[in-house]
Amino acid sequence: MEDNNFWVYSRYEDVNRILKDTVFVKENRNAMPPHANEAQQQGTTAESNPMMSMLDNWMLFRDPPTHTRLRGLVSHAFTPRAMEKLKQSIVSIAEQLAERMAEEEEPDLIASFAFPLPVIVIAELLGVPPEDRDLFKAWSNTFARVLDGVDHPPDFAEQSAKAAVEITDYFRTLIAQRKSSPREDMISELIAAKEQGDRLTEQELIATCVLLLVAGHETTVNMIGNTVLTLFNHPEQRMRLLERPDLIPSSIEEALRFESPVQMTSRLASADIELGGQKIRQGQVVQVMLGAANRDPAQFDQPDRFNIERAPNRHLAFASGAHFCLGAPLARLEGEIALTVLMNRFPKLRQADRPLKRTQSVLFRGLDRLYVRTQ
Ligand code: HEM
Repeated sequence: MEDNNFWVYSRYEDVNRILKDTVFVKENRNAMPPHANEAQQQGTTAESNPMMSMLDNWMLFRDPPTHTRLRGLVSHAFTPRAMEKLKQSIVSIAEQLAERMAEEEEPDLIASFAFPLPVIVIAELLGVPPEDRDLFKAWSNTFARVLDGVDHPPDFAEQSAKAAVEITDYFRTLIAQRKSSPREDMISELIAAKEQGDRLTEQELIATCVLLLVAGHETTVNMIGNTVLTLFNHPEQRMRLLERPDLIPSSIEEALRFESPVQMTSRLASADIELGGQKIRQGQVVQVMLGAANRDPAQFDQPDRFNIERAPNRHLAFASGAHFCLGAPLARLEGEIALTVLMNRFPKLRQADRPLKRTQSVLFRGLDRLYVRTQ
C-alpha cells in the first residue's frame, strides 16, 4: 500500500530479513529526516500524553543506544542460570493452581491456570505483591488494547492516559519502599543500577517494570491456552505426547509456530530500500506478520500440519534480531512446566462441552475462556 505509506510482509524470508536488518528501525526520529520530525512535533508529543511517554521508554520501541542500555540492565534475569533458579518455584505455583482446578467441576483453564501462572511468576521476579493482581490485570488489559490499536471507544485515550498515570504512581510508591528496604528482586536491582550513575532514569525504571509486567500478562497466557486447545484438536498428537513426555519442549515450539500468540509487529524504514520486488521509501511503516510467516510453505514442510516432532522448527513467534523476545527463556520454561503439570495431574484432561471464547484482538492470538474437564 504505497499510497498509505504502509507495507505488509508475510513471507518468512522477508519477515526474518526485516527483523534482522538495521535499516528497519523502531523510532520515528531515526526513520524520518529531521525536518519531518519537526513537523510531527507539532502534533501530540510523548511529553503531553502519559501513555505515549511510558511507551517511549519501553526498550521494545527504542533503537540503539537506548535499546542496548535498557535491555542490558535486565537481560541477566533471563539467562539459563537464572531460569534454573526459578524452576522449582514455577513448578510449585503450577501445582498449587492445578490442585485448585481439581476442585472445580468444569474449570476455565484460562482463569484458573494459564492466566495466574505467568502473572504470579513475573510478579515474584519483579518484586510486586501478587495480591495486587487485579490491579495489574486491568492496567495490563488497557496496555494490550493500546498495542492492538483497533476498536477503541471514544473515551479510550482518556482511559489509557489514566491507566498510565495510575501504574506510574503505583511503581513510584513501590520504588520508594524498596529504596528504604531493598529486597532480592528486580525492582531493587534496577534501583541500584539507577543510583550507580546515569544508567537509568526513574521514568525508564518504571517503564521497564511495566513492560515486563505487561509482557508477562498478555503473551504466555495465550501460549498455554493455545497449546492445550491445539492438543485437544489433534488427539493423535496428544496421545503421542502422553507416550513421549520428552516431546514437551518441541510441542511448545510447535504450538508457538502453529498458533503464534503475537501475530505481528512493525518497523520503520530508515532509508529507501527494495524488498520482495517493492520499493519501500524512507519513513514508511513495514508491518511483519509473524503468524503468517510461521505457516510459510517455503520454510516449513506441510505448514498447516501440527506436528509435535517437527525439526528443525525455526519459527518467528518470538521475532528475531535485536528485539528477539527477552522473556523467551522464561516463556518456554513456563510452557514446559505448565504442560508437564497438567499432563501429570490430569491425564484425562479434555475440553468441556461449553463454548470457548477467543480474545478480540488482531495483535494477540489467544483465548479468554477454555472450559475443561479434569476427570
Ligand atoms: C509466549 C510468550 C511470549 C511471546 C510469544 C512473546 C513475543 C515477543 C515478540 C514477538 C517480541 C518482539 C517484538 C518486536 O520485535 O517488535 C517480544 C519482545 C519482548 N518480550 Fe516477549 N513474548 C513472550 C513472553 C514474554 C515474557 C514472559 C516476557 C518477560 C517477562 C517478555 C518480555 C519481552 C520484552 C522485554 C521484549 C522487548 C525486547 C526488546 O525490545 O529488545 N516476553 N516478545
